[in-house]
Amino acid sequence: MVIATGTRNPDHDPAPSLRRLHTGLQAGGYTPDTLQRLLGITRPDDVGPLNHAPACERIRSDRGSAATLVRLFFLEEPETAARIASALTPTLCAELVTFGLLRKRNGQLTAQLRIDAVEDQYFLADRRFQRIAVSALRLSGGDPVYPPSSDSLLLREAVNAPTARRVLDLCTGSGVQALRHLPTAEHITAVDLNPRATAMARLNAAFNGADRVDVRRGDLYAPVRGERFDLIIANPPFVASPYSNGPAYHAGGGRGDRVLRRIIAGWEGHLAPRGRAFAITHCALRAGEPIEGVARSWFSRFSGRALVLVLEEGTAVDLAAAQSLFALDRGLAAYAREVRRWVTHLRRLHFQTVALLLIIAERAVPRCMEVVDAQPRVLHLPLTPSTADRIATWLG
Ligand SMILES: C[S@@+](CC[C@H](N)C(=O)[O-])C[C@H]1O[C@@H](n2cnc3c(N)ncnc32)[C@H](O)[C@@H]1O
Repeated sequence: MVIATGTRNPDHDPAPSLRRLHTGLQAGGYTPDTLQRLLGITRPDDVGPLNHAPACERIRSDRGSAATLVRLFFLEEPETAARIASALTPTLCAELVTFGLLRKRNGQLTAQLRIDAVEDQYFLADRRFQRIAVSALRLSGGDPVYPPSSDSLLLREAVNAPTARRVLDLCTGSGVQALRHLPTAEHITAVDLNPRATAMARLNAAFNGADRVDVRRGDLYAPVRGERFDLIIANPPFVASPYSNGPAYHAGGGRGDRVLRRIIAGWEGHLAPRGRAFAITHCALRAGEPIEGVARSWFSRFSGRALVLVLEEGTAVDLAAAQSLFALDRGLAAYAREVRRWVTHLRRLHFQTVALLLIIAERAVPRCMEVVDAQPRVLHLPLTPSTADRIATWLG
């Protein structure tokens, strides 16, 4: 099969091709259910640096359309033009090359951006397993755009504001929070500091058929001065990282709440009466330091109700181990050095645990703030007799 590779035409609008790609991905079976069926995962970041290779192996010999699209857009692996054309049609495949979403390399095509399927929507973002491809789809430079991840989906699922007409998504990144409200909201505003993120969020609005998402570039509330909203959502950079020069989506200062504090401080002035706010964050804590004390300081000037749900707690070493995974492509020694660096940093600040929190607030009386432990409880295992007990029983 011959695939026209097209010449890039930077003046051409990519929106119609993205709409055709949306249809093609759905028709080709690239859905969250497919990812669960083929890879056994429920969250996009269930595949990370440690299990990327086994995930590729699981579907290596599967020549179906869904597997082709998963390999290309989710696992970020090269694919033959013939297989992509068969999954998406030759014309669409050529268009994606023209726009620089697909690029020819060593006789195969690679996706320059990843695509995540979230419910029935699709989100372009920068790649997890490959270097950032700066000029794909006419995007400008800037920091990498955060792909929808567990924290994104947790927040997206948690937001409960069915009657919200005016929605503000702070720190929008790919736009994964904002676009969830397309079916119900009248006006959606999405803000991000990173020019690449605002460009990506606009592309994702077009990708999902939305022409009424108002994407603005700026620092938190600066682009919405004087405006009030029925719903404010925020997934800010919240990692208690030793790096201050990393990507804009990542570090949240010493404790992780540097941006979150400013977000909460703006709720009083930007929420309409009975307006609701939802945010997700990490919060690093010292030995014996209760979350209540830290949370109270966030809400000192908020006159409504607030609920802080503790979703998960881990140690400083757990955070270091998870955050250092990116160093694995430089080898195990580099990974070990990175873990050490994170642990040293957190210990220097005396942080012992890190909590994952979901914050919910409503501009309504009575003024109150509650912290609730919402960590899933597990039954003590084993429920059946242990192997040793079985052997002992069999032996009599
Ligand atoms: C963790 S990502 C969240 C992306 C997306 N909302 C999600 O849920 O997947 C955080 C985003 O916050 C943006 N950001 C960081 N500081 C900001 C600020 N002061 N004002 C606006 N956006 C900011 C980053 O550029 C990044 O896109």
